[in-house]
Amino acid sequence: MNSLIPTEKIWLNGAFIRWEEATIHVLSHVVSYASSVFEGIRCYETAGGPAIFRVDRHMRRLIDSARIYRMEMPWTAEQLSDAARELVAVNGMRSCYIRPIVLRGYGPLGVYSGENPVEVFMACWEWGAYLGEDGLARGIDACVSSWNRMAPNTLPVLAKSSANYMNSQLIRMEAIANGYHEGIALDASGNVSEGSGENVFVVREGRILTPPLGSSVLEGITRDTVIRLAADLGIAVQETPIAREMLYIADEVFLAGTAAEITPVRSVDRIPVGSGARGPITEGLQREFSAIARGLRPDRHGWLTLTEVCEHAL
Ligand SMILES: Cc1ncc(COP(=O)(O)O)c(C=O)c1O
Repeated sequence: MNSLIPTEKIWLNGAFIRWEEATIHVLSHVVSYASSVFEGIRCYETAGGPAIFRVDRHMRRLIDSARIYRMEMPWTAEQLSDAARELVAVNGMRSCYIRPIVLRGYGPLGVYSGENPVEVFMACWEWGAYLGEDGLARGIDACVSSWNRMAPNTLPVLAKSSANYMNSQLIRMEAIANGYHEGIALDASGNVSEGSGENVFVVREGRILTPPLGSSVLEGITRDTVIRLAADLGIAVQETPIAREMLYIADEVFLAGTAAEITPVRSVDRIPVGSGARGPITEGLQREFSAIARGLRPDRHGWLTLTEVCEHAL
């Protein structure tokens, strides 16, 4: 599995501290009440140095998540993007995963959190393929979860909040306990929603379908990347409610997320997807995504932010 190997520095409220110092009190508001929002961002090794993938968009979503939860955010997306670049540089990373976390800290311990300080941490570490290298090439086995994603008006799914990941944990723990790699959850009305940490795409007769934002999905940045890359390749993507059984009759199914990147699904509920192997559209999108992220194709969408330019910050 993905073990956590410490790096040297973590960014906290505008300054770098040592990895070991990045601790919080057990009675911090977030520990009891899950009052935090966060991001997961990848930085890829390229010939021009480490390049952070779509950092502006991630920082915008972080700020949006904080706003939904009325958390006062003292940093702009631009300042946070600069901090991410410095973080990669001070830790001497060539590629890594970056995790900004905005949390409600130590203070009064009732549910109301208005008086607890908002702390912003940002860490990075090395992280390989989330669903395994083998999964990227051969596909993973998924199940439809017995847990639904959150119904509207319960927990906001457009916020990437740690509370939402209690639901994700239920989905993933159940999937693993039953011998699958990942679970795909339905929304409250029974349509396909998303994986525990990925958006879902279905290919049928040359068209790509994905659930709309109204199906209780996170507005994934890789989801958006896939939609744009598919357009570049001349393949239409339709955002539409997807019936569960479409997963069983699709030609291809794949998952998309920062951690999982683009991962083919080779079976759902033990029913092979198409031929039971990675399909050509999934493979084409993986190839395009990987080449752009690693700087092997021109960055035509302006998705990469090189980190080396901030070496003066060391
Ligand atoms: C529940 C969920 N859906 C979708 C995604 C994909 O989002 P992104 O591509 O922005 O990483 C993630 C990953 O963050 C997730 O946790």
